[in-house]
Amino acid sequence: MTIPDLDSKRAKVFEQAGFDILTETQELDNEKQIKEVSRSFLSDTITVPTKEMYTYAALASVGDDVYHEPSTKALEAHVAKITGKEAGLFMASGTMSNQIALRTHLKQPPYSVLCDYRAHINKYEAGGLAFHSGAPMITVLPANGHHLTLSDVETYLVTGNDIHGAPTEVIALENTLNGTIFPQDEIVAISEFAHSQGIKMHLDGARIWHVAAETGMSMKELCDPFDSISLCFSKGLGAPVGSCLVGPKAYIQKARWFRKLFGGGMRQTGMMAASAAFALTHNFPKLLDVHALARRLEKGLVDIGVGITSGAETCMVFYDPTPLGVDYSEIVERASKLPDPIKLAGSRIVVHIQTSPQAVEDFINVIRELAEEKKKAGFVPSSVKPKANGHIYKDIYVRGVKPPPLMPFEKA
Ligand SMILES: Cc1ncc(COP(=O)(O)O)c(C=O)c1O
Repeated sequence: MTIPDLDSKRAKVFEQAGFDILTETQELDNEKQIKEVSRSFLSDTITVPTKEMYTYAALASVGDDVYHEPSTKALEAHVAKITGKEAGLFMASGTMSNQIALRTHLKQPPYSVLCDYRAHINKYEAGGLAFHSGAPMITVLPANGHHLTLSDVETYLVTGNDIHGAPTEVIALENTLNGTIFPQDEIVAISEFAHSQGIKMHLDGARIWHVAAETGMSMKELCDPFDSISLCFSKGLGAPVGSCLVGPKAYIQKARWFRKLFGGGMRQTGMMAASAAFALTHNFPKLLDVHALARRLEKGLVDIGVGITSGAETCMVFYDPTPLGVDYSEIVERASKLPDPIKLAGSRIVVHIQTSPQAVEDFINVIRELAEEKKKAGFVPSSVKPKANGHIYKDIYVRGVKPPPLMPFEKA
């Protein structure tokens, strides 16, 4: 082949690979998406990175994180410091962080992990513990319907030398869980007991920021009872990606090894770390307003007779409209038909830093209108409210404009 022929072949290869990903209306598309997010109650994972965040992120260091990237290292050290731990490790996601955390704790089978049956590690990580660690999960239903107690834990703990059992090696708690705050004194009691038995404590702290914002407790105090904590930047804090696992130095060193093994050794992560740092500085304090808006939403629902099955302790409200003769799919449908549509899941409402207060009012009005229509059609609203049971989670979740009556749940 002549050199000109080869050159033209190469030019074709490059031409085929080149790709302008931006649409002709990209800026408008983004504005539309930002508006949609402000009127979506699906999750706080949908929050949009702002121009200010990305301007800051673009200034971050540009090293390769498998060889210890400076901005990423700084973020890891900072999160370790505020949580009172020796070291931190940046992770691609909360799921990866939890799974590697547990894998790193588990040394030699047989072993098991005890958690609340509603825990993300149990229900929404695709059975990862069995896959990655070959460990069973001992799932516990909290007797009080809100949070596990030491008594719940003691009842289900597997200890001793009976060869039929898989001894509990880790107790994994979640705070917040479904937006509810785990009482710290109960966590301390569980932790003291666990440690007295040589059992490790892990926290899925994807939304531990909300607990600190709401209670004013320091991150260190909240994290002290745990050997390892996974904290997310991409939920309530509004960063685009990333979580951080913190714990003792030797433990994090081992976790770094597992992260590589899991395929999670990333390269130029500086801009992700800087986005997280921006979120910590600028978005974390906004959580107080988020919680106030969630409480406003709850009150609006209560005022019109909606049942609340899990109240607004932080950013989530779980509701039940059946006392008004209204069901979720009617609400979802009506909200989606508004001039400025609202996106909803089933029973779970999540308020986030970009939620529009108007969307909250519009959502309440949708239910009010539907309730009035039902009344006119002869429905007698029930004064018996659905019990707050704390056991509901993302039981019904919307995946389309017109959902089926029972919708499959979705993680996040
Ligand atoms: C409590 C909790 N833990 C862990 C995760 C997993 O995070 P990711 O979606 O980043 O894997 C989520 C996701 O929303 C979560 O809500």
